Amino acid sequence: MRAGGDGRLSGWMHVSFNIAADLEAAVLSAAQAAGLEPGAFAPELRAADPRHGDFQANGVLGYAKARKLNPRAVAEQILAALPASLRETFEVGIAGPGFINFRLQPSTLLAWLGEYDSAAHLKSGAASLYQGQRYVVDFSSPNTAKQLHVGHIRGMVIGEAICRLLAFCGAEVIRDNHIGDWGTQFGKLIWGYKHLRNDAALAADPLEELERIYKAADAATKTDPAVLDAVRAELVRLQSGDAENLALWHKINDLSAHAFDSIYRELGIHFDHQLGESFYNDKLQQVYDELTAAGLAGESQGALVVFHPEHPRFKTQPFIIRKSDGASNYASTDLATMLYRTEHFRADAIAVLTDARQADHFEQLWLTTRKWFEHTGRRLPRFEHVSFGSILGEDGKAIKTRSGDPIKLQALLDEAVERAFALVTEKSPELPEAERRDIAGAVGIGAVRYADLAQNRSSDYIFSWEKILAFEGNTAPYLLYAVTRIRSIFRKAGLDPADAAATAGATAPETPGETALARKLVGFATVLNLTTAQLRPHFLCTYLYELAGEFSTFYAADKVIVDEPAVKARRLLLCARTLLVLETGLQLLGLRTLARM
Ligand code: ARG
Repeated sequence: MRAGGDGRLSGWMHVSFNIAADLEAAVLSAAQAAGLEPGAFAPELRAADPRHGDFQANGVLGYAKARKLNPRAVAEQILAALPASLRETFEVGIAGPGFINFRLQPSTLLAWLGEYDSAAHLKSGAASLYQGQRYVVDFSSPNTAKQLHVGHIRGMVIGEAICRLLAFCGAEVIRDNHIGDWGTQFGKLIWGYKHLRNDAALAADPLEELERIYKAADAATKTDPAVLDAVRAELVRLQSGDAENLALWHKINDLSAHAFDSIYRELGIHFDHQLGESFYNDKLQQVYDELTAAGLAGESQGALVVFHPEHPRFKTQPFIIRKSDGASNYASTDLATMLYRTEHFRADAIAVLTDARQADHFEQLWLTTRKWFEHTGRRLPRFEHVSFGSILGEDGKAIKTRSGDPIKLQALLDEAVERAFALVTEKSPELPEAERRDIAGAVGIGAVRYADLAQNRSSDYIFSWEKILAFEGNTAPYLLYAVTRIRSIFRKAGLDPADAAATAGATAPETPGETALARKLVGFATVLNLTTAQLRPHFLCTYLYELAGEFSTFYAADKVIVDEPAVKARRLLLCARTLLVLETGLQLLGLRTLARM
């Protein structure tokens, strides 16, 4: 290793960010060069049992078996065709009946650590994954005039993490908050606003008051038929463009958007667009017309519906795209939204985050869109309904307050910060209060966020303060603490982890602890790949947790600040890169990291 012109450690060889992806490509072309049937062989590269190497190509077995060939001989042919340079990167061997094992050479590990020395360089390494792809991510997307409660947090934090991850991996990300700002609830809201509102309460807590107004109006319609008529009349007036009702509708939307914003700010969430359902009002006729002309939609009991004869359920369960009273619904606006995102945003991929209960809606939406776009010769973007499970209380039932109401998100966040403040004060009473408050913000909000991200999003999970705030286990406090621990190693040595001088002259990893940690660091590329391919942030969480564990093992076994300059430099290099990958990873998940805690 030597220091390059820009002061970065630069290896004598260039090493790609995603070594595994390059290896897979190299094995595939070697197989072709060796004369294996094109298209019939896939390398099937896996992470190997660490005793045998880093990666294992298993594809030879199936290929040879199907052709009654000797798998070891086939593996030998592929090996012979591998470029010589690959053996500088890997130690290569054949094991068992014909597995090909690859072990990263210590010099490769060193080269990778030298090359990916900043968040910017990690990002440029990862950028090839989604370069040139435009993703529209529809997340959070709450309904107007309703409080945000605990259940809303999943879409927010998973959505934010997905946006950051995709952008880090090179995608152009368009973040769209598809607010539910149109619908029959506005009849009650407008009538209630006119007759039941309390201005002082509205000023103090708009969402609380709007929710109260809505509930009171709803109750009144049930006891008084005259109110029901009045509510209907308000809705009709709004839909036909009455100026007063439109102004009230705007006002109610503004009040609730403002209230949402304060939580978005606290959670560090932002959007490029907030195109709510109402934005599509003038784009619905085209949907009805085109789907009808395509023969996809037809009248059924006055409604416009789409059936999917090839589907076991949707051949009889209709996708209602216009209600029998002629009004639009969730399906109408979502179809128009698909078109807008494809044509206006030129999306290559669209991801919509909601809980799993909307699975049928999105399946029908996608089936319908596919046929519609095919019929009209439009380009079809990829689509993913990024769905998630529910948050449960410790009793295993939907999480609620003691009185049985949903827990407000703001109250949950406030409690998280308060609890974190008590913890920090207990651990580090010597820190000034302002700093303890700052740490509590990062730890408390980080803990709530991380608890959500660390679970496979498809599952429900049980929310427990004790678990999410624990300093042990796969939690935010544990990982944030791991970061500060590495920072303190540098602080005590009077060094800056980002300064190449601290790590100049580093030699390749040697001890088991050094080697295992270096291999884990190189694996960051693979985990980014997996996390973005499945849009499941828990893969990154698990990786960061394991990385922190490898670091602890290394740190317990190998003293960092030793006399021998090369050994000290390489251990500091491992510390610096662990810090970099931990901080980069946590920031991708939306957590704020700390210098001390
Ligand atoms: N407002 C909806 C809800 O609260 C979520 C909207 C998700 N986005 C969409 N394009 N359907 O359930």
